[in-house]
Parts: sequence; structure tokens; C-alpha cells
Amino acid sequence: MKKINQTFLTAIEKELQHQVSRLDETHTVIYHEMLTYHMGWTGEGAGEKARGKRIRPLLVLLAASASGGNWEKALPLAAGIELIHNFSLFHDDIQDKSETRRGRLTAWKIWGVAQAINAGDGMFILANLAMGDLAKSYPAEMVLAGEKIFQETCLNLTRGQHLDIDYEKREMLSVGDYWTMIAGKTATLIATSMQLGALFGNADEETQNAYRDFGHYLGLAFQVQDDILGIWGDEALTGKSTASDLLEGKKSLPVLYGLEKDGEFAKKWKEGPVKEADVREMAQYLEVEGARLKAQRQADQMTDLALKSLQMANPQGEAGDALFSLAERLLGREA
Ligand code: IPE
Ligand code: IPE
Ligand code: MG
Ligand code: MG
Repeated sequence: MKKINQTFLTAIEKELQHQVSRLDETHTVIYHEMLTYHMGWTGEGAGEKARGKRIRPLLVLLAASASGGNWEKALPLAAGIELIHNFSLFHDDIQDKSETRRGRLTAWKIWGVAQAINAGDGMFILANLAMGDLAKSYPAEMVLAGEKIFQETCLNLTRGQHLDIDYEKREMLSVGDYWTMIAGKTATLIATSMQLGALFGNADEETQNAYRDFGHYLGLAFQVQDDILGIWGDEALTGKSTASDLLEGKKSLPVLYGLEKDGEFAKKWKEGPVKEADVREMAQYLEVEGARLKAQRQADQMTDLALKSLQMANPQGEAGDALFSLAERLLGREA
């Protein structure tokens, strides 16, 4: 990995710990522990893998730096974005009934659904407080403009989650419906990571928009890849179940292609909720019927569009190079 990424990741971790320490109080030790566990710092299996990839805050700092800005001043923004991501994961694991994440038990499996919802809420507030810290280094109007984009992004994320959950029960769905859903649940936060990184890096509006487009297409490619890994990934690498998407009836892109094909997969899917014993066979049908390859092609295409937008943004220096290589690396990712 590039040296600049390592420097940024170390600084991000320190800033995140500082932001989460707001909850470190004697009467609610377990509450604080739930958050530090989820962030990968404490509890069984704590460590690099348990922290996740920290891609969004890395994108924030790379965008700020590639725009010629001071990345250190943007650290609270990077932390705010990663805390929003982790807030969404607290709730998403409950919504999706996922028992493992980053190779460990999910918070709701350990502390129960009620406490995990509350811990997610706490994480959401911490993210907003982190954003407020930007006022120490930037003009008030800039912080206000950034916070507005940040809030709208959170709203879009919940709209995407609404559709994702709603689609579980819906039958007549098109691939177009899928793009709308993942643009909300996944791409919006990645797009905002880039846009706000550029805003606080002092880029002009046109450049901010080009970075935003890059993040949007990268986010779409990222979610398609997540869908593929959610069926055919290696659990030891992804740290997530390769059964739960199918068991939950998620309308992931490969599933939509399988339904479109109307072959063996579609026939079996229409018999009713997927059973644990049938998951591998269903995945096999999907693969044979070409759904995996088709989804992979879409991820490739979205990555191409992302790279075109990145060229328009014309990122500078070592951070610029790191952005190009990160986009290419994410496409072939296994975790
Ligand atoms: C998982 O995101 C949720 C999606 C939007 C696909 P990541 O794959 O970035 O998760 P971590 O933070 O690295 O675990
Ligand atoms: C990703 O949801 C988007 C959010 C969590 C907001 P998924 O449900 O597709 O992601 P994983 O696979 O659980 O990480
Ligand atoms: Mg999920
Ligand atoms: Mg989900």
C-alpha cells in the first residue's frame, strides 16, 4: 500500500478514537465499550481486520490533499464520515439479521437488539459532533455548507435502506430500481466523502462535482462488488456471511439478473423463502445462468465511469496517484 495511505490511516484511527472518547464516562462503561468493540479496538478479535477498511475517511483525506488542501485540518470530517458509516452498520446488521461482521459477532448478537439500536444512535450523534469540530479550522459558512450536504447524505442513506428492506418483499423489480436503491444506501456516502474532501480542500465547485461523480460511480461499483462477495466471497476474507443475502431475500444485482433470466434459479426462488440447505445450490444456478459475470461486468463499467470522472477532477500529487490506484484496487477486492 502507498505510504500516504498508511500515514492517513494512522491519523484517521487516532481522530476516531478521540471522537468516540466523548462517550467514555463512568456510569455507562458498557455503552462506550459497544462502540469501541464495533470500531474494532476492544473485545475478542480486536485489531486491523475488525476495524474494516476505512475506505471512506481515506477518500476524504485523499480528496482534500489532491485538491491542494491541508489534510490534517480535514480529520474531523474524515472521522464524521466513518462514524456515519459505522452508525449505518449497527442498524443494518439488525435490519439484515446479520450475525457476523468484520469476522466477529455483530453488536446486536452480543448486547441485544435494543442496546444495539441505541449504540447506533449514539454513533450518529458522535458523527455530527465531529463535524462541528471543523469550525475550529474553517470559516463558519464553509462548515455550515458542509454540514448541510452531510445531513442530506444521511437522509439519502436512510432512503436507500428503506428501499433495500422494502424490496425484500417486492417481486416486480427492475435493474433500474436496483440502481436507485444502492445510489442511496451506499453511493451517496462515498460521493459525499469525495465532495466534502474537495470542498474543505478548497477545490472550486466544478472540481467538487467531478470528485462527487467519481465517488458516486465508485460507490455503485463498490456495492455491486459487495453483492457478488455476499454470495460467492470467501467468508474468511469478507468477515461476513455468504448465505444471509439469499436467506433474507435481498434483491441484489445477481439475484435480479437471475430472476430476469427466468431459469432454474428463478423457479426455485419463486417457491418461497430460500432455505439454508438450498443456498449453495441457488448460488450455483445463478453462476451457471451468467448472473455473476453480468454483475461483474456492471461493476467494471461503473469503475470505468468513476475513473473518467476522476480524470476530470484532475487530482494532484501523491494523493492523486493514490486515488487512481485505490479505485482500481477496489474493483478486484476480496474483502
Ligand atoms: C460495507 O462497507 C457496507 C457497504 C456499503 C457495502 P465496507 O465494505 O466499506 O465495510 P468495512 O467498513 O470495510 O467493514
Ligand atoms: C450496505 O448495506 C449499506 C448500508 C449499511 C447503509 P448491505 O447490507 O448491502 O451491506 P453489508 O453487506 O451488510 O455490509
Ligand atoms: Mg447488511
Ligand atoms: Mg443491508
